[in-house]
Amino acid sequence: MPGIAVIGAQWGDEGKGKISHLLSEGVDLVVRFNGGPNAGHTVVDSYGEIRLHHLPAGALREGTVGVLAHGMVIDPWVLREELQEVEKQGRPVPKLLISDRAHVILPHHKEMEVGSGIAKSIGTTRRGIGPAYADKALRLGIRFADLADQDVARERLSRLEGAHRNPYRPPMDPERVVQELFEFYAAFKDTIGDSIRTITAALAEGRNVLFEGAQGTLLDIDLGTYPYVTSSHTTVHGIASGAGISPKKVERIIGVLKAYTTRVGEGPFPTEDVGQLGELLRRKGMEYGATTGRPRRCGWLDLVALRYAQRVNDFTELAVTKLDVLSGLPEILVCTAYRIGNERVEEFPSSLMDLSHARPIYERLPGWKEDVRGIRVKEELPRAARDYLRYIEEALGVPVRLISVGPKPEETIFC
Ligand code: GDP
Ligand code: IMO
Ligand code: MG
Repeated sequence: MPGIAVIGAQWGDEGKGKISHLLSEGVDLVVRFNGGPNAGHTVVDSYGEIRLHHLPAGALREGTVGVLAHGMVIDPWVLREELQEVEKQGRPVPKLLISDRAHVILPHHKEMEVGSGIAKSIGTTRRGIGPAYADKALRLGIRFADLADQDVARERLSRLEGAHRNPYRPPMDPERVVQELFEFYAAFKDTIGDSIRTITAALAEGRNVLFEGAQGTLLDIDLGTYPYVTSSHTTVHGIASGAGISPKKVERIIGVLKAYTTRVGEGPFPTEDVGQLGELLRRKGMEYGATTGRPRRCGWLDLVALRYAQRVNDFTELAVTKLDVLSGLPEILVCTAYRIGNERVEEFPSSLMDLSHARPIYERLPGWKEDVRGIRVKEELPRAARDYLRYIEEALGVPVRLISVGPKPEETIFC
């Protein structure tokens, strides 16, 4: 089996954790290639429910190695807590490989995010993601490889501290930070290494590698709704650079989409419903952030945005999640175009202003009454649900290969 990608097609929280965990059975490596602890990937299995922030969902399986590749920014303090949570649930200790090229999220990154006003204006997760990637781009960042030599680490930290010195903020205490980082390094030395070699060798040997995207296409730093985005490449494009492989190694690209749309944080969202429907979706879909607990904004499916996600990722197949949440609605609306001023627009706009003024043009489809959570075969779904899925397939020109009807792994229909 080739490299498989699991990519969010909307604004994140599409259910990538469930899909990645489900598909990682028999997979050798599950690789996170972008983002950091801003992600919250939920897995429900026989041990219970867990929300992962750095760990790839498939890393919970015995026999699978979870790789945190260099495209990520990693907070050692949060990662330790996450591993403690895994242990607390009585799960086996995950086998990990942390890229020595990955950048470290430091305490001051979180302070900068709040202090600069970015946390509030963008509605970030306050995990220090943006400032850590900014330091990387500024060539000031600290990589895990730097921690191998205490003198190098001290020198780089003091350079960083000097660059960010701010008379209005107490200086960070480099010695305390350095000591805690050295403790982390000492404890995790055997799991820190060259992930490029491991991933490329596995692919060359024909072993199974799954790439688990974090966030979603519309939060990509280049392709998303800038500036209301995250700071990494969340699309299929992030895999080659963030894991250090050739793009031709990824043969299956699975686009994960919710049967409706959600967004958390600020930024335009044309199909957002701030009335009863939005409230109903939030309640039934339990739409509260897995990392921050914030209520997610909810609305109907947006095919303009999804056609764009399809165009840029070229998904080979789709996984539609949360179909069960739509049960009981008399009709289902699907946004097929936008009205911007007097114009009908079918392409997802690059201008933030245009997107902010976009009004959805809806097509109305019949809903279904039946609870679908117990259904395991596509043919047994209510007719209107099958028609809805076919409508999505035809609009995007890609087959739906997986339908999720509940959070548990068994609540899945393979087609
Ligand atoms: P991710 O960030 O893409 O991994 O998604 P999250 O874990 O943040 O959010 C998805 C939420 O929906 C989690 O609470 C999942 O347990 C839950 N979930 C996943 N698939 C389904 C489904 O098909 N139906 C329902 N009702 N919940 C689902
Ligand atoms: P998963 O992997 C949904 C959003 C934040 C904010 C913007 C920037 O669980 O799908 P950041 O902290 O990254 O600088 O915040 O991106 N965001 C997410 N929204 N799911 C996520 O991850 C997200 N990660 C970041 O809410 O709007
Ligand atoms: Mg999430």
